[in-house]
Amino acid sequence: MANTPSPTTRRLLLGLTGGVAAYKATELARLLMQDGIEVQAVMTESACRFVGPATLQALTGKPVFTDLWDARVANNMAHIDLTRNADAILVAPASADFIAKLANGLADDLLSTLCLARDCPLLVAPAMNRQMWEHPATQRNLATLRRDGVTILNPGSGAQACGEIGMGRMLEARELTEAVHTVFQPRLLQGKRVLVTAGPTYEAIDAVRGITNSSSGKMGYAVARAALQAGADVTLISGPVCLQAPAAARLINVVSARDMLAAVKNEVSRTDIFVSVAAVADYRAATASKQKIKKTGGGLTLELTPNPDILEYVATLPKPPFCVGFAAETENLEKNAAIKRRKKKLPLLAANLAQDAIGSDESALTLFDDEGKYSLAKAPKVEQAQRLIQHIAALYEKQKS
Ligand code: CTP
Repeated sequence: MANTPSPTTRRLLLGLTGGVAAYKATELARLLMQDGIEVQAVMTESACRFVGPATLQALTGKPVFTDLWDARVANNMAHIDLTRNADAILVAPASADFIAKLANGLADDLLSTLCLARDCPLLVAPAMNRQMWEHPATQRNLATLRRDGVTILNPGSGAQACGEIGMGRMLEARELTEAVHTVFQPRLLQGKRVLVTAGPTYEAIDAVRGITNSSSGKMGYAVARAALQAGADVTLISGPVCLQAPAAARLINVVSARDMLAAVKNEVSRTDIFVSVAAVADYRAATASKQKIKKTGGGLTLELTPNPDILEYVATLPKPPFCVGFAAETENLEKNAAIKRRKKKLPLLAANLAQDAIGSDESALTLFDDEGKYSLAKAPKVEQAQRLIQHIAALYEKQKS
């Protein structure tokens, strides 16, 4: 028997129309379910020619609806019942034909009827051949939908199933998952400009060697994502990591602490909230050799010189943005975090145990602010970042009032 969803479970109605990209919707359903979103799939007749309803049913744990006259719905009004139970509708893939229908308010099958009989947000992920995408009729229909308040998740450019290369490829499942999360988040930072530093810095010793910190960048990227979901404009200054940045963030790649400081200095005057998640190397080689240092058989002494403290620089500006620090400690978490917060003059500091957090997809966090401390139990970093953003938004508003 299916589990009863908790009252906070978000419910997405996932509509599939006819297109090769329907295969991506199966992966999308899997990712959404993994993230705890309840998915109800609805397929048009043509969609069923590309992927089987049985696949979607297996992935979502629910029978798939395809027919306006489905007798399984007690009142025989599937088009009303299914939208009443949805917090949002995402049509992916949305064919040119379906987009034309939506733009004109046509309702001649279950999915188009559901889209018309809804009062929840509608997201549309177009997927079509390049010429169909570029056709003035399609562009006109998309403009109409945007005016009607529909979110169009613009396709990307690339190789298409028809052999052409160009615009019209549906976004990848991961990107669509992010768009769904964004719709479900309260817009606590709408219009705020958030600057995030993430990942380690790398300080060259010579042409091939360097000093760095252990940091995957996952927490910083999760904070950038959560800020975007809360409606912020996000600039992400990242040290070297192997992660894909959220598409909607402005990404600035840097290598060393001094590069990071220069990038932060460029951005800070346009920043409302600065979240310093980067694991900045505290020292660099006093002189980095341009050539590879040859081994001599004996010992090697390196002279290190301190790097600038980026967060301290920002927090002590005459008009600093709201500053949030991170502290990865290996012992005496509370004492060290409290000292760090005072020393860097921060309204908020998030601390965790380095040995538990580094490289992991999960972490426990303790938040320290003027009013005390708050423990956030171990959870995926993406969720933890959402909680942190909620705390930041509340403090930021309080500070302004
Ligand atoms: N930080 C920074 N620039 C540095 C060092 C740290 O901006 N050169 C920021 C980090 O991004 C983090 C906070 O300061 O938000 C604390 O970093 P952490 O490495 O935990 O502390 P340090 O100040 O370096 O102190 P220590 O290494 O002695 O624990």
